[in-house]
Amino acid sequence: MSAHSDSAAPSPVRLADYRPTDYLIDTVDLDFRLDATATRVVSRLRLRPNPAGRAGAPLVLDGGDLKPLRASLDNLPLDLAAVATPHRLTIANPPQRPFTLEVETELDPSSNTQLEGLYRSNGTFCTQCEAEGFRRITYYLDRPDVMAVFTTRVEAAKDEAPILLSNGNPVETGSSGPGRHYAIWHDPHPKPCYLFALVGGDLGWIEEEFTTGSGRKVKLAIYVEKGKEHRAHYAMESLIHAMRWDEFVYGREYDLDVFNIVAVSDFTMGAMENKGLNIFNDKYILAIAETATDADYAHIESVVAHEYFHNWTGNRITCRDWFQLCLKEGLTVYRDQEFSGDQRSRAVQRITDVRALRAAQFPEDAGPLAHNVRPDTYREINNFYTATVYEKGAEIIRMLRALIGHDAYHAGMALYFERFDGKAATIEDFLSCFAESSGRDLGDFAQWYAQAGTPRVKVSGAYDSEAKTYQLSLSQHIPPTPGQAEKKPLPMPIRIGLIGRDGGEIPLVQDHAQNWREEKFGVFELAGPERTIVFKNVPTPPVASVNRRFSAAVILEQQLSEDDLLLLMAHDSDPFNKWQAAQSFATRLMIRSTAAIRAGEMPAFSEKFALALADALEHYETDPAFAAQMAALPTENDLARDIGTDVDPEAIFLARKALRDGVGQLLSHRLLALYDKLQSDAPYSPDAASAGRRALRNACLDLYAAGNHADGSEIALAQFQHATNMTDKMGALSVLSRLPTPTREKALEFFYRAHCDEPLIIDKWFSLQATIPEPDTLARVKRLTKVHAFNIATPNRVYALIGAFANANPLCFNDLSGDGYQFVADLALQADGVNPQVAARLLSAFRSWRNLEARRGELAEQALRKVLDASKLSPDLRDIAQRALG
Ligand code: PHE
Ligand code: ZN
Repeated sequence: MSAHSDSAAPSPVRLADYRPTDYLIDTVDLDFRLDATATRVVSRLRLRPNPAGRAGAPLVLDGGDLKPLRASLDNLPLDLAAVATPHRLTIANPPQRPFTLEVETELDPSSNTQLEGLYRSNGTFCTQCEAEGFRRITYYLDRPDVMAVFTTRVEAAKDEAPILLSNGNPVETGSSGPGRHYAIWHDPHPKPCYLFALVGGDLGWIEEEFTTGSGRKVKLAIYVEKGKEHRAHYAMESLIHAMRWDEFVYGREYDLDVFNIVAVSDFTMGAMENKGLNIFNDKYILAIAETATDADYAHIESVVAHEYFHNWTGNRITCRDWFQLCLKEGLTVYRDQEFSGDQRSRAVQRITDVRALRAAQFPEDAGPLAHNVRPDTYREINNFYTATVYEKGAEIIRMLRALIGHDAYHAGMALYFERFDGKAATIEDFLSCFAESSGRDLGDFAQWYAQAGTPRVKVSGAYDSEAKTYQLSLSQHIPPTPGQAEKKPLPMPIRIGLIGRDGGEIPLVQDHAQNWREEKFGVFELAGPERTIVFKNVPTPPVASVNRRFSAAVILEQQLSEDDLLLLMAHDSDPFNKWQAAQSFATRLMIRSTAAIRAGEMPAFSEKFALALADALEHYETDPAFAAQMAALPTENDLARDIGTDVDPEAIFLARKALRDGVGQLLSHRLLALYDKLQSDAPYSPDAASAGRRALRNACLDLYAAGNHADGSEIALAQFQHATNMTDKMGALSVLSRLPTPTREKALEFFYRAHCDEPLIIDKWFSLQATIPEPDTLARVKRLTKVHAFNIATPNRVYALIGAFANANPLCFNDLSGDGYQFVADLALQADGVNPQVAARLLSAFRSWRNLEARRGELAEQALRKVLDASKLSPDLRDIAQRALG
């Protein structure tokens, strides 16, 4: 978080050490005079002793690299030198009654490249305070359990910043001297300072009026760079859908007169839920057909909803301390996933979410950076905004709901809102509501928050042809993770179906059903280490479809034959498991090929599999987006994860290529016919059905080209030249980028010239090139860091180029020379001097280094050691490097 000032690593913070503050803050009055290099901030805090704190204790406020100008207590000036350092303000003997502390600080937003606190993005003043950025604005009790009512006055030059925004409702505007003006904002809802926000700039906007269920009129506005207003309409629509959805599904209304969103181009994360004033990375707001892909649209819909949903799960009810981060994040991700599922195809949404969980969270959970969903210690909180806290946190809510059922889930949520509104809560508080609504002890379930590692569930079945019974045995095992050798079994919902040889569903009948939910919904609870279920009236040997909808966030170990998998691919009524069967078949083939290639033998292929895949694609009508998911074979990273140890990324690459090439050749005609059939002249619309058709069509082209380079390249070029939307353009360019022809370089060049003024499009161009699986890609990426469009201070550029190379090009990142590792480590060090959070995120690309085969493992370790040996390191980067080396 803070720059390289302190040499000693900060000591770890522990959940067990939590105690309330000794003082409370009731109100905060802030007065900002914005200036590019010398902004003045006056803060007046109304404080009082906390009855739950220690009487007479000193008052210690946090500061982050602050320059204090003056301070007073109840209007009596304090001796600055005696009370303040850049990192702390201490009052040794504060009054034991309410008192007022006033402090003035001076900030230089122009030189703030960390993008935490007050900074400038393209000339716009903006703030980012989560987790501990507010202390870089003024001295404060910078922790989420200190909740206060904020009033903010912002003053600036009228021509530089005609727009002045902060949290809450607008109160007053006026002029303040020649060429200057001000605005006053008041937020009546007490909040922690991490939700504070301020924006000042010369921005364009669009607005709408929204009427809540109970009749409150809310003015919605989205502010963007001038001239890009027309690109904000999809975000606005998404916001309105999200507001309606939260009323309809959770009974939650919005609670202020205005809701403002501001899009900025320099932002470390996706977006931020500041009360009444969300600030977004502009890539999650701006979209028109010519600039954004269907995937961009889907992300916009979900991030806009996510930040809006935080208004209740995060803002009205916030976290007691940062260990409880999943209280707001896991729950809000679960809510946004369900929202997107309702807007689009539920099955595809689930598949997309599970793909993301497996790609980002499973490797984290299986490596040296593994941590509990609720960690019990941290050195740098910024490094805990992880896939584990967010995505696994969401899976826990989903499993809770599957275990207690819809009604108890919603009754529990209603209790939670009622009981903890306006408070800072814990996971125990949250779970207590569901224990009450379901009448169930959730003590064992709470272990999901306290144990790292992905559970493995073994499944085996036995059919008794005399008794016509089928016995299904489940057992669970959680491998040890750093610092946690012993694991307890976790209660988990396993959704099960039985499929007959004719493809039909067999009803689930037990002798002694344990609860009605099992028979009605097929959701079985595995609570202890193992469980055996006996189904009766099973006429023929069935195939068990287990963990339907991915009901439990586990790794399933089930020995299915190739025929079983083909049956599930063709007939499973659960689309998730239908997709999973195809993935499992392909995975099995490619893992076999990986071993063969390492042994100098031929890769494996299965015509049956390819033909079954073609059948699935051709049955696309009900859900083309689902068919497109079927066509997307497991990634190299998926395979590396499944292989687990002694990973050879080059063999994996070749194995995957062999299967794709084989499928593309065998299915040439069918893929091409489907590609032609899916052609559409309708004007672009980002809706799920149209997006699904485009996704499937592009997937056909991609597979076709894998098996037919010359012809594939021609078709892709034609699509590239005639595309009227970015989805089809990128689909074509992506195919071209994988075929080493002169056409590729020309197309890349053409694309660059067409879009060089659009940083968000250039990001796509960066990522595409960074992921070319060819030996000279590293040289290409190095060249690209020198082009004008690349800027190490802009997080989106770094993620698009370096992040894509490190995370989505396993062949080149893991090159046997070690150059890929060195390059990424060097860039992380370089980024560290500018934005430590970006640097730390880059370095986490090394999280699976221990799974690599010996030589690569050594080289990766050397690169990590080199980072640790650097003379200046931020706490963020040091923490990741140290934990990665373990
Ligand atoms: N709280 C933000 C979100 O949910 C993420 C974020 C964290 C943004 C820290 C900025 C800084 O989505
Ligand atoms: Zn969030």
